[in-house]
Amino acid sequence: MFIVGIGGTTRPGSTTERALQVALAAAAASGAETAMIGGTELQLPMYDPAVPVHAPAAEHMVALIRRCHGLIIASPGYHGTMSGMIKNAMDYIEALRQDTPPYLEGRAVGCIVCAHGWQATGTTLVALRTMVHSLRGWPTPLGAAINSAQTSFSEDGACDDAGARQQLQIVGRQVVDFARWRLSSLVMASGVR
Ligand SMILES: Cc1cc2nc3c(=O)[nH]c(=O)nc-3n(C[C@H](O)[C@H](O)[C@H](O)COP(=O)(O)O)c2cc1C
Repeated sequence: MFIVGIGGTTRPGSTTERALQVALAAAAASGAETAMIGGTELQLPMYDPAVPVHAPAAEHMVALIRRCHGLIIASPGYHGTMSGMIKNAMDYIEALRQDTPPYLEGRAVGCIVCAHGWQATGTTLVALRTMVHSLRGWPTPLGAAINSAQTSFSEDGACDDAGARQQLQIVGRQVVDFARWRLSSLVMASGVR
């Protein structure tokens, strides 16, 4: 069971990246192996569909996504939607178009948004989930909306808001639960016991 977290901002120690770490820790506590691609690694060249081989950091991210059973995406709310950096990273998933299964089919995707007000958490969460649907992924029932005007994370990643922490942990667990159900249904369909 392998879960990949992708998210953050260009700011080291960003709220968005720390929120992602809380969700990934919950996924790990549920038994998953996890990997994170944070803000530093997400500063990728602009995605160009005409380029056959991309930057090593982009190829690495695509390889992790290809191998994963579930994803957690964390974006800041920038001007009411996901940041350009996160959208650009997601555009690289086009590399999975001809995979079997294609794109994010059969994978749960937890969505996390951090914004400085409730309005942008809501609109950005809708945008993230719409993107996941178009990539044929399965957004988890709960998406985490973190209002960074009211919630902060300490240096060691601890979240001071119990409600926010709980949302992030549920998202991490739901991704693992779905991946587990999906794997067991594939095993049953193949007749292997
Ligand atoms: C370019 C830019 C646009 C932003 N737009 C919004 C916005 O529309 N609504 C909002 O609530 N916060 C907005 N913010 C604030 C971020 O969403 C907020 O700081 C968020 O928690 C990300 O912070 P982080 O870098 O610590 O992860 C914006 C910040 C930047 C830099």
